[in-house]
Amino acid sequence: MTKAAIILAAGQGTRMRSALPKVLHKIAGLPLLGHVAAALKGAGVDRIVVVTSAAGEDVRAYAGSLGAQSVIQAQQLGTGHAAACAGEVLKDFSGTLLIVNGDMPLVTSETILECLKAQGQTGLALLAFEAADPAAYGRVLRKSDGFLDRIVEYKDASPTERAVTLCNAGCYAADAQNFFRWAGALKNDNAQKEYYLTDVPALARAEGVECAIAVTDEVSVSGVNSRAELAEAESKFQDRVRARMLADGVTMTAPETVFFAHDTVVENDVEIEPFVVFGPGVAVKSGARLRSHSHLEGASVESGAIIGPFARLRPGAKIGENAHIGNFVEVKNAAIGKGAKANHLTYLGDAKVGEGANIGAGTITCNYNGFTKSVTEIGAHAFIGSDTALVAPVKIGDGAITGAGSVITKDVAADALAVVRGGLVEKAGWVTRIRADGRVEWIPPPQLDTGQARVNDYHHPENYLLCDD
Ligand code: UD1
Ligand code: MG
Repeated sequence: MTKAAIILAAGQGTRMRSALPKVLHKIAGLPLLGHVAAALKGAGVDRIVVVTSAAGEDVRAYAGSLGAQSVIQAQQLGTGHAAACAGEVLKDFSGTLLIVNGDMPLVTSETILECLKAQGQTGLALLAFEAADPAAYGRVLRKSDGFLDRIVEYKDASPTERAVTLCNAGCYAADAQNFFRWAGALKNDNAQKEYYLTDVPALARAEGVECAIAVTDEVSVSGVNSRAELAEAESKFQDRVRARMLADGVTMTAPETVFFAHDTVVENDVEIEPFVVFGPGVAVKSGARLRSHSHLEGASVESGAIIGPFARLRPGAKIGENAHIGNFVEVKNAAIGKGAKANHLTYLGDAKVGEGANIGAGTITCNYNGFTKSVTEIGAHAFIGSDTALVAPVKIGDGAITGAGSVITKDVAADALAVVRGGLVEKAGWVTRIRADGRVEWIPPPQLDTGQARVNDYHHPENYLLCDD
């Protein structure tokens, strides 16, 4: 059976106090709208219509990127009115329709399926949950047969009704054609003068269709209306991913300090030390180790590789089997070969590093000249001396060595040694002469306001005017 869904996303989101539309705020690197759409697709929904405000161009663009259609609700006259706005584009659709608030990012496909199952009982259903703190949610009042009596919005509720803890989640399922007939007949005679989606069940009952209630867990349906609720949702989402990772065989000594993106893929027997942060697009193979304080985004890490501590993998970083990326090493758009090592203080950008190569501390691929980006290629088993600047485009052949401190501006042949360095000058006995009384005139460094030198200043020859040299 075909299924379609309407996602309501035209609300102002005033409580977010943001220039960004509420549904584009992110949880684990993915906009709220993306989370809801993913849950719907996972539940077999193949057609999604997003209701946006006239100003919601960015929301429409994002909806398009998800393969969804969008419609404009010119004026925000309420959730019922918003859903009815999708009637025109879905007029040819006959099947089951879900109507979901765009601000419930923790909803899962399983939760959506619970709603669809309940809809099978009567033809109309909604999701409800027992709230620890019902706050301003609409209250769900049941009849003695278990079906819905009515939903009363917080602002319209009496004190007795407000004491009810069963709340409306904002997810409904109905036959599409019935739904649009009911939504078209809504009235706005309530405290907010809005067309409430929550009044649809009363119109259905008038036609003999009861509304079934699927009671689900509170976390999955919690709504985001403020920054505090956004942070709360992020925290719950992270807890959920951490629990899944642990269950799947990932080792974490302090899971509460590790932050995942919505799409992070980590295989079993990966070890993640405390304070590792994942941006979107990361895949880590079994047996890799991610050490503390590393940040990964758009990167892949093969089996046996060790990343960090304090490493940064940026988009396009591909770390090969058993490779080591150590502290204060940044890798961007670079493939690091099997067993290669860059253990300290290095930038590898737009580069290809061959198998078993050793990248010394302080190596920099100078990939950008202010106009264009260029590629550095380092051959297998090459040895890049500490503090080498590789001015791209440049190639270092297999097995070649560069001397420490070299600025390499042209290709180096396989197995060659390349050194670029000023000659070393050694002056025999110079220090002894400096220390001898009366042979130098002390010039205080400019930052000192007295002529008194500190111990260290005597070690800087430029602070002396030499009497003989
Ligand atoms: C709504 C429900 C409430 C439920 C709660 C769950 C109604 C009347 N109330 O309240 O029973 O407990 O969700 O979170 O439905 N929207 C539009 N156009 C509008 C108004 C809203 O598209 O004219 C969209 C919003 O962007 C949002 C969703 O509908 O994604 C819900 O709107 P919101 O204002 O958050 O409703 P709540 O007050 O949370
Ligand atoms: Mg809401």
